[in-house]
Amino acid sequence: MSKIKILSDQLTNKIAAGEVVQRPASLIKELVENSLDAGATEITVVVKNGGKSLCQVIDNGEGMNKDDLLLAFERYATSKIATTEDLMAIRTLGFRGEALASIAAVSIVNAISVEKGADSGYELRIEGGSFREIKAVAGTVGTNISVKNLFFNVPARRKFLKSREVEFRHIIDVIRKFSMIHPRVRFTLIHNDKEVLRLRPEELLDRIVNLYSVEYRKNLIRIDEQRAGITLSGYIGNLNLVRARRGDQYLFVNNRYISDRLMNYAVGKAYSNLVSRGEYPFYCLHLEMDPSAVDVNVHPTKMEVKFREQNRVYRFLEESVKAGLKDILDVIPDLSKFSPEYYYAPAPFERQQREEKKNPEVGLISTGSEIGDDKAPESPDYQTEMPLHFSRRKPEGRWTERARRFVEQGFPEPKMEYRPDVPLYQLHNKYIITQVKSGLVIIDQHVAHERILYDNAIKAMAKEPWRGQQLLFPQVIELSVTDFSLLLEVLPFLEKIGFSIREFGKNTIALEAVPAGMTWGNESTIIKEILDHYQEFGTKDTSIQSKVAASYSCKAAIKSGDKLTEEEMRNLVDNLFATDDPYFCPHGRPIIVNLTLKELDKRFERT
Ligand SMILES: Nc1ncnc2c1ncn2[C@@H]1O[C@H](COP(=O)(O)OP(=O)(O)OP(=O)(O)O)[C@@H](O)[C@H]1O
Ligand SMILES: [Mg+2]
Repeated sequence: MSKIKILSDQLTNKIAAGEVVQRPASLIKELVENSLDAGATEITVVVKNGGKSLCQVIDNGEGMNKDDLLLAFERYATSKIATTEDLMAIRTLGFRGEALASIAAVSIVNAISVEKGADSGYELRIEGGSFREIKAVAGTVGTNISVKNLFFNVPARRKFLKSREVEFRHIIDVIRKFSMIHPRVRFTLIHNDKEVLRLRPEELLDRIVNLYSVEYRKNLIRIDEQRAGITLSGYIGNLNLVRARRGDQYLFVNNRYISDRLMNYAVGKAYSNLVSRGEYPFYCLHLEMDPSAVDVNVHPTKMEVKFREQNRVYRFLEESVKAGLKDILDVIPDLSKFSPEYYYAPAPFERQQREEKKNPEVGLISTGSEIGDDKAPESPDYQTEMPLHFSRRKPEGRWTERARRFVEQGFPEPKMEYRPDVPLYQLHNKYIITQVKSGLVIIDQHVAHERILYDNAIKAMAKEPWRGQQLLFPQVIELSVTDFSLLLEVLPFLEKIGFSIREFGKNTIALEAVPAGMTWGNESTIIKEILDHYQEFGTKDTSIQSKVAASYSCKAAIKSGDKLTEEEMRNLVDNLFATDDPYFCPHGRPIIVNLTLKELDKRFERT
């Protein structure tokens, strides 16, 4: 008997499903693609439990008749291509005829469809790829597919799904991409019976503003270029929309969102003289060309493409974005958005260099950094790279107030060999030098404070929540949908360390209290900064607690460049030596450099 067997359809579908459906968001992507291919102008997405219990997509597209509805869930059943030539010039989002079969193989599907022109339709039920029943139903034209219990029959896959919040964020991401490339389509997103997003048909600019915030309207630059059969349209952000995390960078090719390192690199290149490593500009760009000039049949998720003339497209993209940025001087960032944290007075020569870098007209100094750069931003370096035009402003004063509160909160006694009565010196507003029994230590003030805040935040989350300090005027902050859902994820932890946040309308919050000591006026930006940092901070399996604590401590800590009084330095050093690990910051960077007497003696040739 032959040892090789042909696998059953059910099994092959399950295997194929692994490629097409990785998580709720990927199945929503497939369903919405089908709705758009069916010409829908209204799409409603209903999700429960981050998509793990239910993903439902309802559209008003052309619908299917009974035979098509039955065929749609068969593998390689498609209405979109018929011949090899069709495959060479794909105009639809789907073309393989495998998405619905794959989805049905790993879930419980209920599909209702009413074909255009009919006044009733059919409802089909499939469980784990096996047909259950089909019956006639009344309804309006369109298709309504609900997918329940994803991976119910593939426990190994189900185990790999992330938390409800994380899965839902992936879904928001998918919907946002579709809604940007189809601003004329009405999109509604409902999660756990709550409407999260409602977008009317509108112009792209309005759509972006509705997805992000009003601040985007005046900070976007329109791009409209055409060259030899390729067009590029959309918007790019000026420097006000630069953020500390990647993600708000959208490139579409023939209505399809694509993830193409090289093309994103081309856009990054155009920005490279304006932003530094770890800074990510906003863009939403649509490349359109003859479908035969681009192969979309490259990857199961259909998010990668191959251009016939890659170099030409690359150059066109880079040059078009560069041309759009030419007028960036007219839209110089509104620096009030940068918190006083960033005020940093570099040496005159250094400052001159930096300002030249920011000003494309005054001789460019390439940073060599690219937007596609995969390395996570190193926060303290990044902070000193921020626009420095305001470096004249003095940070003195605010730390004194913080230090006082710091002392009031009460910290354990120092337990190291460090003696609290020895003098302390501040070097270049950056390092603190002091004497210890074995010699001298040099302390990095930013990371030292970061360590202290981190340890205390972890303690506050574990057992002793802090009472926040009420703001005189609550700050109303508008967030993007993603930031809002991110905030919901971290909110319980932020509350433990003293933030008090109330929902204030859709995707808008009112910040009512902040941790004691945070009184230096950047309350409204700190939340966004914490969210950015939280999202960028490693993909390692760190707990939410430690990620939140790390984000908070990094953003709330004093910065390199802050001048400290003697009392402030003493508080800092005392509290540092009271922590469990005064030698390394939560990111693993050293806090203290130790110079022993023995080493000094050696240097001075005393031995
Ligand atoms: N919402 C819908 N409205 C109308 N027809 C639909 C809808 N969803 C699916 N169909 C029909 O079912 C067929 C199968 O859909 P399926 O998503 O499995 O394959 P596809 O879209 O053709 O290709 P791909 O696997 O690349 O998505 C489609 O070709 C289309 O004819
Ligand atoms: Mg499809």
